[in-house]
Amino acid sequence: MAGDRGHHSRPAQWRGDRRPADPVRVAAYDVLRAVEGDGAYANLVAPRILADAGLSGRDAGFATTLAYGTLRRRGLLDAVLAACVDRPLAEVDVPLLDVLRLGAYQLLFLGTPPHAAVGETVQVARLVGGESRARFVNAVLRRVGERDLDDWVDAVAPDPQADPVGHLSVVQSHPAWIVEALHDSLSSWTGEPSWADTEDLLVADNENASVTLVARPGRIDVDELLDLPGTSPGRWSPYAVALDGGAPSSLGPVRSGAAGVQDEGSQLVALALARADVGDGPDSRWLDMAAGPGGKAALLVGLGLERGAALLAGDRTHHRAQLVAGALRSAPGHHLVVTADGTSAPWREGSFDRVLLDAPCTGLGVLRRRPESRWRRSPSDVAELSALQRALLSAALRSVRIGGVVGYATCSPHLAETTAVVDDAVRAGGVERLDVRPLLPEVDDLGEGPDLRLWPHIHGTDGMYLALLRRTG
Ligand SMILES: C[S@@+](CC[C@H](N)C(=O)[O-])C[C@H]1O[C@@H](n2cnc3c(N)ncnc32)[C@H](O)[C@@H]1O
Repeated sequence: MAGDRGHHSRPAQWRGDRRPADPVRVAAYDVLRAVEGDGAYANLVAPRILADAGLSGRDAGFATTLAYGTLRRRGLLDAVLAACVDRPLAEVDVPLLDVLRLGAYQLLFLGTPPHAAVGETVQVARLVGGESRARFVNAVLRRVGERDLDDWVDAVAPDPQADPVGHLSVVQSHPAWIVEALHDSLSSWTGEPSWADTEDLLVADNENASVTLVARPGRIDVDELLDLPGTSPGRWSPYAVALDGGAPSSLGPVRSGAAGVQDEGSQLVALALARADVGDGPDSRWLDMAAGPGGKAALLVGLGLERGAALLAGDRTHHRAQLVAGALRSAPGHHLVVTADGTSAPWREGSFDRVLLDAPCTGLGVLRRRPESRWRRSPSDVAELSALQRALLSAALRSVRIGGVVGYATCSPHLAETTAVVDDAVRAGGVERLDVRPLLPEVDDLGEGPDLRLWPHIHGTDGMYLALLRRTG
């Protein structure tokens, strides 16, 4: 394992008269170990591991594909491996299991010829575990290679008619409780429960998300960003520019903070809140109550600038508040960042004209960007978070003046984190729920409303939710 080998950057080594292990596969393995063994986030740790291994271009791309794909497909890979290992998978030590997953992923999903997939993975096993483990990996992967993906699915997945959740859970590699939660949410939105629709969503979770930039108003125009090579207009947001590839951090406007990396769904959430009608009262004080790391705050400050509004951005932790300060660094207009727990906020009741509560959530709408997170979350997170979401929403409604608007957003479509939280606030009284759809005329397929729901498989955005509540009393 990576830890046994001391550090992640060790180059492939010769063992006796054997070929060296392929550095691309070793790097992918190191990413898996950092994620599975050390609890790292793949999107944060992978760039460092690949750079330490001296990988760039196509090699870095392939290592990322291997690592991300293996993490996402862990559920199905483990179901197949369980059928090929003659003891319970729980008894296979995890580093070795990661090698097996890496090999099985190449065999079943990448169409790597078996001799290459098995041979190269055995070299990784030899490097990290020695000869006996290499033989074990060789034997198991040969068994995996005896069938193709469809045959394995037939062999290991429950029948789709008898057990649609279990079937999709294995085939699309999501924990069963997440399949159920996404199905419930999507069904309530379409009004027609359909496992085929749910499968489309799960398929989208298994694909890589594209990179979108935001042109921050008051700092740079979209047209200027579109002059950069490899860019094209976004699909929905007037501030969005799609990037074909390459590292966004190398672009001048991103380095200066005039542009940022931001999914269109997040842009639309900020935009809808900024467009909501706050009546004849003032529109000069905006609050982003749980703002870290500051993506939406950086857009809001630009949107507020057009009306002379000032933004207060807070986050519970100092570290996250500092990230917000970094995102707002050199932004024009009035803004202030504070470390503050939104549930016991230090500002006076009714201080703000618009409040964004982009609540802490399970992130079930952004699974495509965080390949490991589906395996880390559990149903108990939902219960814990929905209590916090309720407390924060009550505080947000107290923070806004009568006639002002609160935007309650999550990057999870889970009903318990979205409509259930907002329904309770509406039932408690003193608020009017606004229809978000007319505020975003540029976006197709917004369903029955009144809340906004964006879906990866329909809108191509992250799975975002937004309810707008006007305080009436
Ligand atoms: C979904 S993130 C916000 C993302 C942000 N709007 C953006 O676009 O970059 C939720 C944030 O809520 C913060 N948070 C959690 N509990 C909080 C609380 N009680 N008060 C304030 N912030 C809190 C977390 O630290 C996290 O930064």
